[in-house]
Amino acid sequence: MFDFQNVIDTVHHNLKDEVFRGLVANYIPELANIDVQHFGIHLRLLDGQTFATGDWNKKFSIQSISKVLTLAMALPMYPENLWQRVDVEPSGNPFNHLSLLELENGIPRNPLINAGALVIADILVSLLENPKEEFLNYVRNVVDDHSIDFNLKVAESERLTGYNNYAAANLLKAYGNLKNDVDDVLDFYFHQCAIEMTCEQLSKAFVMFANHGTCCLKTNQLSPSQAKRINAIMLTCGFYDEAGEFAFEVGLPGKSGVGGGIVAVLPNHFTISVWSPGLNMKGNSLLGMQALEQFTSMTKLSIF
Ligand code: DON
Repeated sequence: MFDFQNVIDTVHHNLKDEVFRGLVANYIPELANIDVQHFGIHLRLLDGQTFATGDWNKKFSIQSISKVLTLAMALPMYPENLWQRVDVEPSGNPFNHLSLLELENGIPRNPLINAGALVIADILVSLLENPKEEFLNYVRNVVDDHSIDFNLKVAESERLTGYNNYAAANLLKAYGNLKNDVDDVLDFYFHQCAIEMTCEQLSKAFVMFANHGTCCLKTNQLSPSQAKRINAIMLTCGFYDEAGEFAFEVGLPGKSGVGGGIVAVLPNHFTISVWSPGLNMKGNSLLGMQALEQFTSMTKLSIF
């Protein structure tokens, strides 16, 4: 058995004084003022043991990490074949690129790029009576923590500046792959991205992917096959045009967000969350990727 506390403390120690930490996302103005020095790690084993270091208990904006959770909520509920509306191929493009969407007739490459997540948001807006509240409750139930909430300032800040997402939603609508009003879908999407969590809460939220779909939800759990498929999508698409690099360096299914969070899972073993708000050129947490590379190299625990 590893001394996991020692491993994550070592990783934290190795990186905490790093001078080049990347840049915080500033295209959402409300995220621009986050202190780039934050750095936390939280590891949760499937037997419930937890290990944490640094700023593991500070809330941050989960942003694109929410896309995995909307997919997990939508998949067991959707009565038709969801994969007819969104594909499962890596895009090799940044998260907000639109060119493939037009080339491929409004079918987004995967549910983790913005256009794909907007289709999933549209599905939830169709299926739920009060989409924002019900999705927030789903997340609270998955984590078993009702203190989790939206940061309304972040949602509003993105609404005021989200021209690219407006473009994506309008393009999807033009191709008939958005059933609801563009503004309603975007309102839901900006709120899902504006959920705040700590590393500890995020590690708990992703237990279902490490545990073949089983978590503390009473209804609407993923089947083992659905959990397997979401892990495959995280591995191939979770880091956009850096998905290959993440698999190469870290070797785990995972998801990043422009708030600087990354969560990764090793099925049957653990979930691990890292937060460092400075991003690399591809929009993924710079120290977060390095920390996870060090963790899987030191422990030799990866899917490879
Ligand atoms: O739609 C956006 O641009 C943001 N709300 C989320 C983007 C994001 O987190 C990309 N991840 N690295």
